[in-house]
Amino acid sequence: MKEILLTGITSTGDPHIGNYAGAIRPGIEASNDNSKQSFFFVADLHALIKCQSPEMVYASSLSITCAWLALGLNQNNAIFYRQSDVPEISELSWILNCVTAKGLMNRAHAYKAAVDHNTLNNHDPDYAVTMGLYSYPVLMAADILIMKANKVPVGKDQIQHVEMARDIAARFNHMYGELFVLPEASINENTPILNGLDGRKMSKSYNNTIPLFLEEKALKKAINKIKTNLQEPGEPKDPDTSTIFQIFQTFASEQQTRDMRDQFLNGIGWGDAKKALFELVNNTLKEPREKYNELLSNPSDIEDFLYEGSVKAREITIPLLHEVKQAIGIRKSVNKIVNATV
Ligand code: ADP
Ligand code: TRP
Repeated sequence: MKEILLTGITSTGDPHIGNYAGAIRPGIEASNDNSKQSFFFVADLHALIKCQSPEMVYASSLSITCAWLALGLNQNNAIFYRQSDVPEISELSWILNCVTAKGLMNRAHAYKAAVDHNTLNNHDPDYAVTMGLYSYPVLMAADILIMKANKVPVGKDQIQHVEMARDIAARFNHMYGELFVLPEASINENTPILNGLDGRKMSKSYNNTIPLFLEEKALKKAINKIKTNLQEPGEPKDPDTSTIFQIFQTFASEQQTRDMRDQFLNGIGWGDAKKALFELVNNTLKEPREKYNELLSNPSDIEDFLYEGSVKAREITIPLLHEVKQAIGIRKSVNKIVNATV
């Protein structure tokens, strides 16, 4: 049986090179592996938790989709869709809410971080915490369980959420029968978490990203903004604490990485290191960037592509949700609805 792989990217901004290294590139590699069936989706319902700009949520759903296509997603082994186009996910999310222990959600990192932040600032602990943020891992569990995914490639920050999905699935199975597959997070140990311009984790939430498909000039400008220390040219530099080196390594061959490491130890100036980084990133992304711009200029084609993805996804989600409803006792009206939609 094929391994079922699934991952989502939140539509809260343009895809950046951290998304590329941590999710898009490995995802595209997986889509070229015949032993795997992959599901990739734009998590626009998750986006609502962090982003209240309707324009951004929508535009980002298109730009993320175009990025995956431009970089060569193999559509033979991969189904790509937008979360909100598959309504069974939201419906399952409510059902899972009803078997999820509140205590489990109290332990979620994102919620705990918000509470800690509030406490530190003398606010009420739940100040500005929405139910969306609080039950975020339940929606994520619905994303995963509805496709019976067994492998969920994510960054380290998301491991807890996949473990929660596993707990929720086990609890549901215990109560109602073995309907869900227990998922596992898969972490590519070779993929580092890339740092952003300010040295923190590169993230749309921190506004410190290098967007993947910046035009040449803007890309050069962004790379020039990467924070460095005050060491002068000629002074040996530590590659292992440098964001420039870290990003370089992500795009470079082994030989190029070794050469750059030597150049760091031999005191390359920050300006030259940034120039080398720009050349490498720009060369790698030049062609896909053209394709990306072309795709993005035809939004209705992208909508068609997403629609087709959602039709394929719903061939799986509609029958599964039907089974779930049978199991939990929501039956009569469901039969009519399913017969009307399948
Ligand atoms: P962001 O933090 O920018 O909102 P997402 O949460 O949408 O990014 O992440 C989507 C995917 O990209 C996840 O699999 C995540 O692990 C990966 N990812 C995000 N930021 C980075 C990074 N800085 N380095 C490596 N992978 C990352
Ligand atoms: N929460 C994930 C992130 O911020 C995005 C996501 C939503 C996801 N649903 C998912 C990832 C399901 C994997 C599986 O990165």
